[in-house]
Amino acid sequence: MNDSHAAELYIELLKKTLNFTLWDEEDVDPALKEIGKVDWPDLAHSMIGMKRMNNIQFCVESVLRDGIEGDLMETGVWRGGAVIFMRGLLEVHGDRERRVIVADSFEGLPEPDLANYPQDRGLNFFLCDELSVSLEEVRGNFEKYGLLDDRVVFLKGWFKDTLPNAPVEKLALLRLDGDLYQSTMEALTNLYDKLSPGGYCIIDDFSIPACKKAVEEFRNQHGITEPLVEVDWTAVYWRRQ
Ligand SMILES: C[S@@+](CC[C@H](N)C(=O)[O-])C[C@H]1O[C@@H](n2cnc3c(N)ncnc32)[C@H](O)[C@@H]1O
Repeated sequence: MNDSHAAELYIELLKKTLNFTLWDEEDVDPALKEIGKVDWPDLAHSMIGMKRMNNIQFCVESVLRDGIEGDLMETGVWRGGAVIFMRGLLEVHGDRERRVIVADSFEGLPEPDLANYPQDRGLNFFLCDELSVSLEEVRGNFEKYGLLDDRVVFLKGWFKDTLPNAPVEKLALLRLDGDLYQSTMEALTNLYDKLSPGGYCIIDDFSIPACKKAVEEFRNQHGITEPLVEVDWTAVYWRRQ
């Protein structure tokens, strides 16, 4: 087996393991697992499904190939599957510099702040215990894959507190998966300026009207005209010019 074939096999295995698609689960339709439409998976380390994993792979491999500077970051990580995959991709492609920034409250979503963000009315994800995963558990998941080191940086807390002073200079990939208008807007407002030209911005929750509204408003306010590309039934991305 040559090295590039081994790398391909590792990446496929990593995606399938993180999404728990190698095993049949009672009462779970494999087609829904494939597209990340299982609310909320019992065992998988990510809920995003294979298409969105493939999209992360496409973006990371593209910035590595094109030499786009910066770290990789996700805001809203749950059990850590997407960021574990990013760290695995850096490893298998021999990148020894870039960091993976892992931002989450590690206690689920905030209660909607309706005074400041009326767009989030009715989005009561804060009531879902399934969305609350501790830092220890996410760190433990990185360890299980042998991918925990000092190039994995945890930013624990509410985005409104952690993102304004995030210890990040440049990003090559910014992946948003915080569901709410507020969480999406806070990530874009505080981090988009750090995205290098040629870097990618991925929005996981474009199917949620509040999230979509935040993205459209931000893009309009900042004159962002790069086309949105559809990933699957919920995610979109664009490449910064
Ligand atoms: C849908 S889950 C992320 C799924 C994950 N990307 C995956 O690969 O499965 C949403 C995450 O966003 C976090 N989150 C949402 N809004 C937040 C905020 N304002 N501050 C901190 N964490 C937030 C929640 O704690 C939760 O872990």
